[in-house]
Amino acid sequence: MSLFTFSAVTYRYPNQTQRPALHDFNLAIPGGEKIAVVGRNGSGKSTFFLHLNGLIKPRQGEVRFQGRPLDYSRKGLTALRQQVALVFQNPDDQLFSASVFQDISFGPLNLGMSDAEARERVLEAAALCDIEHLLEQPTHALSGGEKARVALAGVLAMHPDILAADELLASLDPWGRLKIREIFDVYHAQGKTILLITHDLGLIKHWATWVIVVHEGKAAFSGRADDLLGDEAIMNETGLVQIWRQAMQSC
Ligand SMILES: Nc1ncnc2c1ncn2[C@@H]1O[C@H](COP(=O)(O)OP(=O)(O)OP(=O)(O)O)[C@@H](O)[C@H]1O
Ligand SMILES: [Mg+2]
Repeated sequence: MSLFTFSAVTYRYPNQTQRPALHDFNLAIPGGEKIAVVGRNGSGKSTFFLHLNGLIKPRQGEVRFQGRPLDYSRKGLTALRQQVALVFQNPDDQLFSASVFQDISFGPLNLGMSDAEARERVLEAAALCDIEHLLEQPTHALSGGEKARVALAGVLAMHPDILAADELLASLDPWGRLKIREIFDVYHAQGKTILLITHDLGLIKHWATWVIVVHEGKAAFSGRADDLLGDEAIMNETGLVQIWRQAMQSC
């Protein structure tokens, strides 16, 4: 059974006049994979992610999680968000507490943990993300890459089964990227699912075990990297073919 299934999902933002962000979006997402989600700017990747933990609801169509339609009641969403955690494209959408410590402890406290348990989760996540030295800093005073790592720590502190990160690596230096990839690999080895939106196509070959291509509001491909690279029609239709050649030359 797929972890998530999107059936004919259409989503149009309230003020969106051109084509909907997602239109007839059909996709089955397998569990336990390291998934790279690629596609051009404006293709609908972030909008697709916002559906994963019910932050937005399809105008038409249906999203299923573990075989059941998403439950958009308050209780249903709380349960879903304990399992599925999202790191937003813009960390400023995620960080809202005064200090880094408070920000990371928000999720665990919200799950009903005691102060002591939440503190342990914060320290564990901070160690993983190399941000222990930032815990007492105000979140607004962090650099872009530091904000990204704090946002990830806030999500890891909840121990989610599914981690969906929107362009998390983009603002990180090479050391930060390596570190985060290590964290993802540890998560993956525990049987968890990682989805990562990325413009770094090298990750398709060197990191991902599964690839999703979003193109003009539709899921154009979902499968193994080798199958994507061997699918001339999809590679041409999505314009990936030229980009791929370039990515491989610069590797
Ligand atoms: N809040 C919003 N209101 C109106 N339109 C929006 C909003 N957010 C996104 N859109 C539009 O929806 C479409 C899909 O946007 P989305 O952010 O999902 O793309 P994306 O693939 O994540 O792009 P990028 O690579 O630039 O992050 C775009 O045309 C965008 O302009
Ligand atoms: Mg985006």
